[in-house]
Amino acid sequence: MKHLTSINDLSKDQAIQILESADSMGAVNAREIKKLPTLRGKTIVNLFYENSTRTRISFELAAKRLSADVINFAAATSSVSKGESLKDTAQTLEALGADAIVIRHPMSGSAHQLATRGWVDASIINAGDGSHEHPTQALLDACTIRQSFKLEDSADLSGMKVLIVGDILHSRVARSNLLLLKKLGAEVEIAAPATLMPEGLDRLGAKLSNNFEESLERKPNVVMMLRVQRERMNGSYFPSSREYAQSWSLSGKRLAMVQKDSIIMHPGPMNRGFEISSAAADDPRSRILDQVRNGLSVRMAVLHMCLSTGEL
Ligand code: CP
Repeated sequence: MKHLTSINDLSKDQAIQILESADSMGAVNAREIKKLPTLRGKTIVNLFYENSTRTRISFELAAKRLSADVINFAAATSSVSKGESLKDTAQTLEALGADAIVIRHPMSGSAHQLATRGWVDASIINAGDGSHEHPTQALLDACTIRQSFKLEDSADLSGMKVLIVGDILHSRVARSNLLLLKKLGAEVEIAAPATLMPEGLDRLGAKLSNNFEESLERKPNVVMMLRVQRERMNGSYFPSSREYAQSWSLSGKRLAMVQKDSIIMHPGPMNRGFEISSAAADDPRSRILDQVRNGLSVRMAVLHMCLSTGEL
């Protein structure tokens, strides 16, 4: 595979291959010398038009662990602020030797556009495009579920019940997770206020709910909370933050409804006290920091898949 712009780019077998490769990368990351020579001589550019902590840093570290050269490009401090287009920026980076461009952009479809328009030859990896997709987030979430429930030797995630809660309308994480979890055989329920529930998710195989407590009563194995994406909202989607939190936060009362052997996830960054309480974020069932750790292994696996022809 040369590009990863959507979970739809992956067959089930390819998705599992990435998760298995991430397990091997995890073992490398646990060694004293955490480095492989796999991508020596390759240049990877992190082209970020939106802010990021986890994704940008883990892609940078992943490239370094695989011995590639890395350039971090922040649009705000580049010639983009002078009006340079995405095409010209990408071609400039390729002229400087980029073999892969990891792109985060506020416009849905930007990664696909870069991969398919023939502007550049480099591999294109989507690190989040608008409210469309964030495929490596879904892969690291699947990796975390496999690890938490010791499913590494299973063929897929059959039997897992995953509840995704919150601002689904603006969430690229929810869309990529729904596509991947269904591909891997998990049951997915999506709970959101009616104003933040996009149409058509039932056609992708999700059960839909407008009541968080009722969804928790169905005993999901995974409760995945999402950030409310105020920066993508151009209207009023709920009466007030307090009322949103009352109905949709993973509060102490709802935390008590989460099964003892279930796990809590959040892609980050979190708004503590709004969509998730500190009690839930710091609960022993929380896997939020494991998600961050697995992000490194998964991104190593994805860079390896897109850029290396060799076996691990
Ligand atoms: N989950 C996620 O994409 O986090 P960042 O915005 O910090 O990269």
